[in-house]
Amino acid sequence: MVPTVQWHEGAVRLLDQSRLPETVTFLDCRDVESVAVAIRELKVRGAPAIGVTAAMGVALGAQAISAEEYETFAKQLLGICERLAATRPTAVNLFWAIERMKQKLSALRGEPVAAIKAALLKESQAILEEDIALCKAMGRHGAELIQGGQTILTHCNAGALATAGYGTALGVIRAAWEQGKQIQVIADETRPVLQGARLTAWELMQDKIPVTLITDSMAGSLMRQGKIHLCIVGADRIAANGDVANKIGTYGVALAARAHGVPFYVAAPTSTIDPATPDGARIPIEERAADEVAGWRGLAAAPAEARVWNPAFDVTPAELVTAIITDRGVFAPRDVAGAA
Ligand code: MRU
Repeated sequence: MVPTVQWHEGAVRLLDQSRLPETVTFLDCRDVESVAVAIRELKVRGAPAIGVTAAMGVALGAQAISAEEYETFAKQLLGICERLAATRPTAVNLFWAIERMKQKLSALRGEPVAAIKAALLKESQAILEEDIALCKAMGRHGAELIQGGQTILTHCNAGALATAGYGTALGVIRAAWEQGKQIQVIADETRPVLQGARLTAWELMQDKIPVTLITDSMAGSLMRQGKIHLCIVGADRIAANGDVANKIGTYGVALAARAHGVPFYVAAPTSTIDPATPDGARIPIEERAADEVAGWRGLAAAPAEARVWNPAFDVTPAELVTAIITDRGVFAPRDVAGAA
């Protein structure tokens, strides 16, 4: 797979996901503001990928600070952390990764600033590499739940594109495929930004994993007809009680799955579990611009003055989740906080 995020010649290089599937292009962010805008505008998206990107943004910003004395350097770096943390509110991986960079900074208090800058860059690279390793571990655990011949429904894109590589929900699917299991994937298109249609279909086709695209409104009917054997989705934040925030529409999939006796799995690294948030009602849900719903790339999909509501995520209560697949194993939702 094409790398979603990487450090390239002094810049944070992002695969521009807003231009997929038509064009594979990269965006070189050379300052913190362009990293922040890229996260906000979904050039890079998916909970683990935005965490990794923010960590690299912190490292990038650190290199440009001219202060040579720790306190001044630290103050400016914390300002950078604040800017990046204000980009998107729901995915906890963003805050998790920034917090890890802050901890690195305070652990190095008293060291020469040049050494701190090098260490911050190294830390962001470690976060990236660990993310891929976590996805592969999730894949190994989750593949056990899949049998050859099954058809798996997924929502949004929880793939290599949403992580530093390999993917969460799609990582599990990828691992099952690599084990030789003949599976089929059904991808919800995922209105309004079409992460399922543009990204999941593209990503699976790159790997030659059989995928069929459906509109979001078809999922329940396919389950009723017995055409879906299990659902696997990713997560942006998992509360301590096992409630799961993920792309808008996930809750509807979970309800349909429960109604038709279809197992509903969530795959997420431990960096997505937020023990400090007791339940799903406390997870901040991002509201995005009206034009994502009212139009598509300059074309009107609704009257210009139509009132629009565009929450980007929903919460699926723990009781609708069969199990949560993490890098540390498969957990009942009520036990998942113990894995963090
Ligand atoms: O708005 P997005 O595209 O960042 O939303 C992404 C999702 O909801 C994914 O399902 C989630 O981040 C899990 S990614 C491994």
